[in-house]
Amino acid sequence: MKHAVQERLSLLTSLLDEATRVQTVILTRSFNLTKQRTKHYREITDEVRKLECRNHFIGRCFLLLLSTASPVGVALLFWYGIPKVAHGDLTLGTLIAFSAYLGRIYAPVSQLLNVQIDFLASIALFQRIFEVFDHYGKPNRRVREKRIVEFTKGSIAVRNLSFTYDAQCWGIKDACFDINQGEIVALVGPSGAGKTTLAYLLAALYEPTLGSISIDGYNVLDLDEKSLRRCVALVTEDNCLLDATIRDNLLLGNELAREDEILKACKAVGIHDYITSLSKGYESWLHQGGAQLSAGQKRRVMLARAMIKNPLILILDEVTSSLDPMAQDSINNVIKALFAQRSGLIIGHHLPTILLADRILVIENGRIVQQGVHEKLVREGGLYARLFSSYPYNGRDNSMEIVLQNSRVNTADHKEYIQER
Ligand SMILES: Nc1ncnc2c1ncn2[C@@H]1O[C@H](COP(=O)(O)OP(=O)(O)OP(=O)(O)O)[C@@H](O)[C@H]1O
Ligand SMILES: [Mg+2]
Repeated sequence: MKHAVQERLSLLTSLLDEATRVQTVILTRSFNLTKQRTKHYREITDEVRKLECRNHFIGRCFLLLLSTASPVGVALLFWYGIPKVAHGDLTLGTLIAFSAYLGRIYAPVSQLLNVQIDFLASIALFQRIFEVFDHYGKPNRRVREKRIVEFTKGSIAVRNLSFTYDAQCWGIKDACFDINQGEIVALVGPSGAGKTTLAYLLAALYEPTLGSISIDGYNVLDLDEKSLRRCVALVTEDNCLLDATIRDNLLLGNELAREDEILKACKAVGIHDYITSLSKGYESWLHQGGAQLSAGQKRRVMLARAMIKNPLILILDEVTSSLDPMAQDSINNVIKALFAQRSGLIIGHHLPTILLADRILVIENGRIVQQGVHEKLVREGGLYARLFSSYPYNGRDNSMEIVLQNSRVNTADHKEYIQER
């Protein structure tokens, strides 16, 4: 019973939390879900109310039983004892002593029973807590030795890497590739192909089911968590801002960053002017993970945070996806500068961003199916050519020629390709 109450209460709490989010309000209004959501909320509160009532009723009955047991016991004792005293089989003193002991025994027994009830209620509560731990704690690292390493290169070696979320199908299957010191690798593929999964694996947020990931020759499973986190920064595709001030959010990866480093990063990603236009500037509070910021502004804050962290390896998961084309171009320049002294992975669907990379990996259904530079992959045909054959090369400022010229590598292959077009 207590377990059912805890379960319903946790559902109610998450419903309340969800209901007060801006996104939920927008979703509810735009899909006209007010009645349906209210009904659902009422059903859950009714269930909690009924369960709690039943719970309290059983508790009260139990207490009633305990509190009546004591006088009833004494009455029974006298009912049995008085005739015995009258017949001389029992002395009056013994009977009175018995009744006194009986009173003394009831108090500790009822206390013990109450302890048992509290104990059972606590077990139900802990069961819920551990269920949540088990659910969200799966990607915990099976660290073998906690080796503290000062990384100097930031090279990654992925060998026969496979990963499964639920042991039913492979999220990543048998991936083998290297990211050398100072090299940028782009990862492209259709939605659901496994790009974010691979990014999380490289950032050691998940651990490989099979195979290995090494940084500068050290298997990530052998590394101390702090060394690892200092070396790698991940900018996720989902919003990852906390309810805190903009400054606190910017300092999450490096709380010792100097003021000039913060300003430099924010200017570089083009968010400084917006932040200073707010009445409290960098001290402005971000409510509900930055609900007052546009998607592009959130991305810029997250990029600035990665810059301030100053890692050796940078992983960017679709950071340009919610920006307008001009902003995408300007962020691409930032990304180019950001990767100047570091290696990393860029995930994206935006061709100019992908062309910032030295090499491109193409992933489909968790498998790396193609790799190489843009021109080679286009010539090869296959998935990459299909993904980018429809890219609008002309008619905009970033025609294919400009895109290729702005890209990080400008090889003979590139020039030949431009001439062919
Ligand atoms: N936490 C999870 N539990 C179970 N399966 C998951 C989980 N996260 C992702 N998946 C599954 O793994 C596969 C790869 O997902 P992933 O998020 O890596 O795709 P993606 O290539 O990043 O897609 P997109 O371009 O849409 O971001 C998908 O089939 C997805 O349903
Ligand atoms: Mg993704």
